[in-house]
Amino acid sequence: MCGIVGYIGHRDCRDVLLKGLARLEYRGYDSAGVAILNGDLAVAKCAGKVRDLAARLEVAPPRGTVGIGHTRWATHGPPNDTNAHPHVGSGGTVALVHNGIIENYSALKATLQAKGRSFRSQTDTEVIVQLIEEILEESAEISFEAAVRLALKQVTGTYGLAIVNRQEPDRLYVARNGSPLVIGVGADEVFVASDAAPIVEYTNQVVYLEDGELAVLRRDGFEVRSIDDVPLTKEVHQLSLSLDEIEKGGFPHFMLKEIHEQPRAVADCLRGRLDAATHSIQLGGLANVLDRLAAAPKLTIAACGTSWHSGLVGEYLFEQLARVPVEVEYASEFRYRDPLIDGRDVLLTISQSGETADTIAALREAKARGALALGICNVVGSTMARETDAGVFTHAGPEIGVASTKAFTTQVVVLALMALAVGRRRGALPPERAAAIIEELAAIPDKIRTILAQDAAIRALADRFTYAPNFLYLGRTFNFPVALEGALKLKEISYIHAEGYPAAEMKHGPIALIDRLMPVVVIATTRHTNDKMISNIEEVRARGGRVIAITTPEQDDVKRLAEFVIEVPSTEDCLAPLLSVIPLQLLAYHVAVNRGCNVDQPRNLAKSVTVE
Ligand code: AGP
Repeated sequence: MCGIVGYIGHRDCRDVLLKGLARLEYRGYDSAGVAILNGDLAVAKCAGKVRDLAARLEVAPPRGTVGIGHTRWATHGPPNDTNAHPHVGSGGTVALVHNGIIENYSALKATLQAKGRSFRSQTDTEVIVQLIEEILEESAEISFEAAVRLALKQVTGTYGLAIVNRQEPDRLYVARNGSPLVIGVGADEVFVASDAAPIVEYTNQVVYLEDGELAVLRRDGFEVRSIDDVPLTKEVHQLSLSLDEIEKGGFPHFMLKEIHEQPRAVADCLRGRLDAATHSIQLGGLANVLDRLAAAPKLTIAACGTSWHSGLVGEYLFEQLARVPVEVEYASEFRYRDPLIDGRDVLLTISQSGETADTIAALREAKARGALALGICNVVGSTMARETDAGVFTHAGPEIGVASTKAFTTQVVVLALMALAVGRRRGALPPERAAAIIEELAAIPDKIRTILAQDAAIRALADRFTYAPNFLYLGRTFNFPVALEGALKLKEISYIHAEGYPAAEMKHGPIALIDRLMPVVVIATTRHTNDKMISNIEEVRARGGRVIAITTPEQDDVKRLAEFVIEVPSTEDCLAPLLSVIPLQLLAYHVAVNRGCNVDQPRNLAKSVTVE
């Protein structure tokens, strides 16, 4: 939920920290701060964005080559200057930034207050730095590193931490339990951050900290030990991320860039996995588990938000192409309902970030019950990528905009590939049907391009409905999850209330909402339920609803009856979401821009929800 960055080396770290925080703002952006060792411990922090912090630092720029920074998404205590990170202990020598939630902070705080310690903030985080200082004061000969370790052993909850100590100006301490941390290793300089975006400009040599690990960073390198003080050897990975991938590339917003990246992202996701000429499918990441997946009595999918919507598409794909029973669970519900899952089962988790706390928790619950845990993820080195038994990367490239777009389409592509592979393995998929779907899948990138070319028409539609108080999205079968996704896109970036429904369900309540003020987006691109969608359009029209149809060129009746029409190319019904979602992404984007909303950093949201 928050972004952490740290540096120890030869550069003036203020600029390194501020630039790094700007690259992490998508993770949380209600307040920001830095702590820099400059002979003293200089701390600057404030409510607001990183640019507000930068303005403060212009006034009296602390100079130093060791420092930490933080951009916050509040979990405990409102966004204000006091609750902003870094937090400094009463002794004024130790500063700390934290991503995560300390679940036993109230008990720890009460104990420390009983010992006379006073607290400045309402955060859980401040407990950690006060505890470290308390331990140092109680045991004069203990080392700082040992004090940090002892403090963390008393903490329950999740943390990604970076800590500086004025009395140890040549060290920077980092620790991880449940919140991601990446160490970047340069020439006489070491970086740490919540993900690789702040690091990639300086080095592509990275080390991923695991849960329960503590690292001491120095200018010439680093040491990693377990929380139980066992020395660990860590592999240094080579990052393939490039700097321009994390910049906007001429687009006004990351979200629009990422919408337009989808042809390339889908092509990258298919590359090396699908051969339209031979109709072959290769999912190397699943090679060792495909038989077990094909033999499973059912498939359980767990995810959150947009990833949950792609999971719903996966349900239709696996059940239709592989004849496998599928249950799609909200990850946040899964582990609290004593799920019926055991060693015969497979849990497939889906996550763009690979760090969503609820999804990781579901993954761990399934593994604890003996199930095979698979993942579809976009971030190499993420917690999900490292903790699943096997999985498939979406290769969509960094998704910076808080609203997921290319994550959804590439997740659906992977789900289609998996369903095809499992269907073949189970003998449930006739060869000619598989061939037709594979050929269509290969054509999806070009078909998305033709939809993106209609951006002006979609923008004109957005202009008409920018101030509608509500939206209703309706779809059937493969387009029902798209109705949900279209509604989520609109509400999360434009703040307009929107709901997605199975089209037939409209008659069981939502139809009462329909009047001249209600735009109803009808997603009618599949052949299988075309006639039923026409009935639904008639029902909406009869009540004065404004029908916006997402449909295909041959759906003449839909086009005749709808007030507004956006055409998408025809494709296999099971691949329809890959195309019908594109106009909805653009519609939401343009409405939000018209409303002056912060498209890339919508209020109250964060890109990766790493707390439950
Ligand atoms: C989608 O636009 C939202 N940003 C949100 O629902 C997101 O899909 C959800 O938090 C899951 O994130 P993940 O895919 O990284 O797990």
